[in-house]
Order: sequence, then C-alpha cells, then structure tokens
Amino acid sequence: MTKPPVGSNRTGRKLGQKVKKGKLKASSRRWIERHINDPYVQRAKLEGYRARAAFKLLEIDEKHQILKGARRIIDLGAAPGSWSQIAAKVTDSSDEDIRVAAIDFLEMAPLPGVKILQLDFLDPAAPDMLMEAVGGTPDLVISDMAAPTTGHQKTDHLRTMHLCEVAAHFAVEVLAEGGHFLAKTFQGGTERDLLNMLKQNFRQVIHVKPASSRAESVEMFLLAKGFKGRRTRLETVADDQDDP
Ligand SMILES: C[S@@+](CC[C@H](N)C(=O)[O-])C[C@H]1O[C@@H](n2cnc3c(N)ncnc32)[C@H](O)[C@@H]1O
Repeated sequence: MTKPPVGSNRTGRKLGQKVKKGKLKASSRRWIERHINDPYVQRAKLEGYRARAAFKLLEIDEKHQILKGARRIIDLGAAPGSWSQIAAKVTDSSDEDIRVAAIDFLEMAPLPGVKILQLDFLDPAAPDMLMEAVGGTPDLVISDMAAPTTGHQKTDHLRTMHLCEVAAHFAVEVLAEGGHFLAKTFQGGTERDLLNMLKQNFRQVIHVKPASSRAESVEMFLLAKGFKGRRTRLETVADDQDDP
C-alpha cells in the first residue's frame, strides 16, 4: 500500500529546514525550502525513485489498478524517469526484451529495459518512433507532460492541455483493446470535446488527484480506462450523429 510519507528524517535530513537569506530571490528560497522539506522527495530518495512523481502514479494505481497486467507501456514526458522505472518493473522489461518506450525532449539517464527517445512528442515522427521502440501494441499510455513554464499561467495551461489532447489522440491510435490512458491535466481544464472523444473510446473516464499532487497545485490527472478498441469510421460517424 502507498502510504503518505510522514515527517520522518530517515534520509538523515530533518524536515522543517530553512534556507538562509542571501543572494537567492525569495521565490527561489521558498521553492528550495519546500523541496528539501517535502516528505515525498525524501521518500523517493529512500526508495530509489528519480522523482517524487513516482508516488502520483503509484497512488493512482493503488486506487484504479492500471499497472496490473500491463505488458507494454509508453511514457510521454518521461524525464527524469520515475514513471519509467515503475513501468519497466511492472512489465518485466529488460534490454533484451524492451517493453517500455519513453520520450522527453530533455536528456534522461539510461534505465534498464527502457528505450528512451530524446525528442519532442509533438514532432510528427514521434508516434511511429515510439511504436517502433516499444516493439508491440501498448496496453498503457501514460503522460506526465507539462509544458515548460513561461510565467504566464494561462499560456502554460493551454500548452499543457494541448499536450494532453495530442497524447489522448495518440493513445486512441495505438492502445490495445482494454488498455488505459493516464495524462496530466488541470482542474477544470479538460475540454468538453476531448472528454467526449475519450468517453466514446473508453469504458470509464474520470479525473483523479493523488495525495502526492500538491494541494495548492491545480494539477489533476485524466484517467481513461478500458479502451473499447478501434472502431470503423462509420460507427464513429453514427455516434457523433446521436450525440452532436
Ligand atoms: C513532470 S515532468 C515528468 C516527470 C516524470 N513522470 C517522472 O516520473 O520522472 C514533465 C516532463 O514533460 C516533458 N515534456 C514537456 N513537453 C514535452 C514534449 N512536447 N515532448 C516531450 N517531453 C515533453 C518535460 O521536459 C518534463 O521532463
């Protein structure tokens, strides 16, 4: 069971530490203080995960069982790699038999069993390269992609929502029947058209906010479970006419 970490100092570091006032801007100091005092950061270190984000995926899985039985996983916006670490473990992926493909435009240190593409997911070549890298039909597409921040919140949200939308269309193109799609989104940010598209293609579509996602952040995750399979164009047109 994924329990929220308590304020222990098992890493040898005490919680509640302050950063000395110096040359740092107040906002940078607050960020560093929050980071070093974050129990999930400390727990990620203890458990060997590259990022605290690991606990978001583990908590979502604990409640919604999306990892169990997954044989191939595509991880979008993967760096530094904690979701890929989990994906490689659950799929039993190895360098001899790769079952996880990860993409990020940032460099990511190698991980056993993970084929890493350093590329923009929005590059038109990315979908085919990911499918080639994962070596078969994936049953899970996970996306923690967040657009680099510009300082203008509305622009940042729109860019991340766009990534979520492109990831959703990719998932519908590539997933195996019964597969799942998980992607980062924002509270109130998911477009109605995207939700409708997902509802047509998956048995269940919900928003989830794991405890490890900071309460003050508007980050949410969109979870679409049970892919119905690719349907014929005629069926889709008929659905659209029933539900304009
Ligand atoms: C929150 S981090 C992912 C953390 C990761 N899930 C983990 O567990 O380590 C979001 C990542 O999305 C990546 N990203 C954002 N836009 C992207 C794009 N268009 N193509 C590829 N990666 C992208 C960023 O570079 C960043 O590394």
